[in-house]
Amino acid sequence: MSSTRTIERTYPAVRTTEGGGFIVHRPFPTRMLMDFDPFLLLDEMGPIDYAPGEAKGAPDHPHRGFETVTYALEGQFGHKDSAGHSGTLNAGDVQWMTAGAGVVHSEMPDPEFLRTGGRVHGLQVWVNLPRSDKMIAPRYQEMPSAKIPVATSADGQVRVKVIAGEALGVAAAIETRTPILYQHFTLQPGAKIEHAVPANYRVFTYGLSGKGFYGEARSEIGPRQMVVFNSDGDTVTLAAGEEPLDVLLLGGVPLKEPVVRYGPFVMNTEDEIRQAVIDYQAGRMGQITH
Ligand code: FE2
Repeated sequence: MSSTRTIERTYPAVRTTEGGGFIVHRPFPTRMLMDFDPFLLLDEMGPIDYAPGEAKGAPDHPHRGFETVTYALEGQFGHKDSAGHSGTLNAGDVQWMTAGAGVVHSEMPDPEFLRTGGRVHGLQVWVNLPRSDKMIAPRYQEMPSAKIPVATSADGQVRVKVIAGEALGVAAAIETRTPILYQHFTLQPGAKIEHAVPANYRVFTYGLSGKGFYGEARSEIGPRQMVVFNSDGDTVTLAAGEEPLDVLLLGGVPLKEPVVRYGPFVMNTEDEIRQAVIDYQAGRMGQITH
């Protein structure tokens, strides 16, 4: 018999400033929650309306030891990296960037978007790499919205965009290094889904809009809340209140390895962090040719 997971606790996103001065809402890392193995960070960027000339981004900076995953909901996100990849994310597109041994990249608005201004809303997730993968060659998977599989429930009331993992029998197109779930659920008012989750995955949700009922809870939880589930069941229950519910479901199999962070580098030991700084300063993570 299936049982649904109960809620361990909820964490509100904290408002903070990142990169070249853009506002993010961040459920982790915070003083309350340092990470959610195997995830290191979740940032909701915006929604924010930029006037012409005001759009901000994160100029050239390095990463080593993990993956950055950007999901555009509205507006445009430009990207360039030292491995020669570049692209523009439009609404609905995903970019899964495996930094591995190291890249330098820039995440800046495209010149045209900077000129016109407009609304920006997106998400960035950092996915940790296991010790054995931290020094692999960088990889870049760009997935336009049209190529991201979408599944719909039999009653048509629940739609899920399958960025990673599997939902309603539909598998993602993006390849991950360790088992990861990253799914964007949209529930019509009053809709409910009991979604199967493998036993060894730890999972959480992050609300984007609308209030929902999660797990066994009988009170509504609003947007910008991270709901962490216990590993006490084989499904996760999501239900919308009186408005549509937009919510992300993320999960993975914990790596259970030491996490040593220093800004854009995430390794297993202090020595490896020192080496990352040396390698970056020596130009061994490359540079962007603008
Ligand atoms: Fe970055």
